[in-house]
Amino acid sequence: MKIILLGPPGSGKGTVSERLVQDYNLIHISAGEILREEVQKQTTLGKEIKKYIEKGNLVPDQFVAEIVKLGAKGKKNYILDGFPRTIAQAKEITDLNIDLVIYLDVPEQIVIKRLAGRRTCKKGDHTYHLTYLPPKKRGICDYDKTKLLQRKDDQPDVVKERFRVYHEKTQPVIDYYKKKRMLRIIDAAPTPEKAYKNVRKIIEDTFK
Ligand code: AP5
Ligand code: MG
Repeated sequence: MKIILLGPPGSGKGTVSERLVQDYNLIHISAGEILREEVQKQTTLGKEIKKYIEKGNLVPDQFVAEIVKLGAKGKKNYILDGFPRTIAQAKEITDLNIDLVIYLDVPEQIVIKRLAGRRTCKKGDHTYHLTYLPPKKRGICDYDKTKLLQRKDDQPDVVKERFRVYHEKTQPVIDYYKKKRMLRIIDAAPTPEKAYKNVRKIIEDTFK
């Protein structure tokens, strides 16, 4: 099962992925997470990547495509979260034989509220929301027991730029998969439980 999850910033790609990993034993390959890990390591490359992420811009295609392909190499069951984000990236992975592309459809005014209240654990694997998906203990990850943090690129001015880039560069990718008849659009605006139920239905229909 090879799935691509696409959607605007804050649409719930990470949240849906967490549940798919549990239910279907899929490997979660998130381009954003891999890039943030490189930034944390403070390597020369990490310092370069940081400049793009903190401004809300995309990291150059070749680099992202290479690391994602490396992550997917030899694997049969995975989710690509937030990749591809440009037509060039999509063309880079035609040989991966993706089964399904899911687009999480959420209006912009809703995702802006989601990003403003998002908190993530230090390891980056678990995502919460102050109101919509709070942890059991305020400020602490349920699983890792580490302190919850706010992502630097969730500042309102950076969020604005992420949306601009999304419309310019990623919207064409959605049309690309639509034309290939690989795209399934799901309503991801309701609660996390309902949105996930919509995703599950499509997966069950596709892989029955
Ligand atoms: P990335 O980390 O992928 O950011 P993004 O695409 O902007 O998406 P987010 O992670 O912000 O949101 P999400 O859809 O995962 O939502 P989440 O589940 O967290 O990329 C960051 C940066 O890395 C990019 O800007 C770029 O610089 C670089 N990059 C990444 N990929 C790249 C690529 N392919 N090429 C080049 N550069 C790349 O949910 C958000 C919040 O909402 C959470 O608080 C959550 O609890 C809550 N929530 C989730 N679902 C619901 C729901 N149904 N109802 C209510 N609340 C919900
Ligand atoms: Mg994410």
